Amino acid sequence: MRAWGDLPGDDPERERAETQAAIDAAGIDLDPVAPGSHRHGDEVHPSDHAHPHIHSVPGEPPIIGIVGAGAVGTALGVALTRAGWPIHAVASRDPARRDRFRTLVDVTRVFADPEPILDEVELIILAVPDDVVAPLAASLRMYGGQAMIHTSGALGAEVLEPAMAAGTQIGAFHPLVAFADTERSVAALHGATIAIEGDDDLASLLADMAEAIGAVPVRLAPGSKAAYHAAAVLAAGGFVALLDAIAELGRVAGLDEAGSLAIYGPLIEGTLGNARALGIRAALTGPMTRGDVGTLQAHLETLRAHAPGVLDLYVAAAVREVALAESRGALAPEDATKMREVLGSALRRAIEPVP
Ligand SMILES: NC(=O)c1ccc[n+]([C@@H]2O[C@H](COP(=O)([O-])OP(=O)(O)OC[C@H]3O[C@@H](n4cnc5c(N)ncnc54)[C@H](OP(=O)(O)O)[C@@H]3O)[C@@H](O)[C@H]2O)c1
Repeated sequence: MRAWGDLPGDDPERERAETQAAIDAAGIDLDPVAPGSHRHGDEVHPSDHAHPHIHSVPGEPPIIGIVGAGAVGTALGVALTRAGWPIHAVASRDPARRDRFRTLVDVTRVFADPEPILDEVELIILAVPDDVVAPLAASLRMYGGQAMIHTSGALGAEVLEPAMAAGTQIGAFHPLVAFADTERSVAALHGATIAIEGDDDLASLLADMAEAIGAVPVRLAPGSKAAYHAAAVLAAGGFVALLDAIAELGRVAGLDEAGSLAIYGPLIEGTLGNARALGIRAALTGPMTRGDVGTLQAHLETLRAHAPGVLDLYVAAAVREVALAESRGALAPEDATKMREVLGSALRRAIEPVP
């Protein structure tokens, strides 16, 4: 026989569930906690109590969460896991990137949003675009005992301050690696420099983390990060721009890109070797060290005629070469002056309107 509670429309359990669902949907909190506290299920804690409730074993790596499954987040996830620093959680808004991360990294928890990571880990790594770091940090709030770092080379650790609460730490972990492909990046981390920022405790943990993946940790002087990063951009992107200009001139000489790399590559490597062995100034060779104004003029003419897009890069480098040669005592001041005049007039001609 049917009991009353089984009749449609008279099921107290179901009605309670429906009422609760309607309350939840309306965002009504029937049991608000006092200001300065927060709740986990039935438990209420002071807001600054230590999280997460999962703790790493003393002497073992911290429990790590990565926000951003892009180039850096994924490569760091792979490298750290292989080094015995497991990744507990990752957050990426993109399902395809989440799947790729899960395929490459044995991660326990995968989220679409960054917030839930804060309930589960001790060290939060923000591997998101530079412009996103500060607003993202401002939308998160750490719990006591947690640390947050970002991987940007351009930003200081202080951009993470809005996410701080009592007993938290912030820092930065910037690998000097061009993250073009995951496996190549993981390999390149071996022997790469990682710039570390943070209080002594956190910096020491981050140095251990860098060494675990085979990298060399360095601590930068306060205020020096922008210059350090600009040098890195010149060494990576700037060098590629130079290679591109070399290949453009190579095309004028009848070489394709592979041909230029084959011919000029050993010259580049030899020059780098000389700079390492002898110092940068001593490694300088070429017409600017000899005051060969005729050769310089011939180069500028051919650039103007056949590769005008390379002219300002050639002139900018030549101006610096003249200064280097002069400071080395290889170039007499009057020759240096003549070369600067020729370079200046080539630049002026380059920007003059064509008659
Ligand atoms: N690439 C390099 O060679 C290199 C080298 C050293 C340092 N870095 C630094 O590392 C950081 C990350 O660079 P990356 O090259 O890995 O960038 P990326 O490949 O573009 O990946 C960035 C990740 O951040 C996520 N993201 C973007 N906007 C977000 C937002 N508003 N909220 C939450 N997540 C967001 C992305 O989207 P989804 O959420 O959609 O997944 C993606 O997973 C940057 O600070 C960069 O300067 C880069």
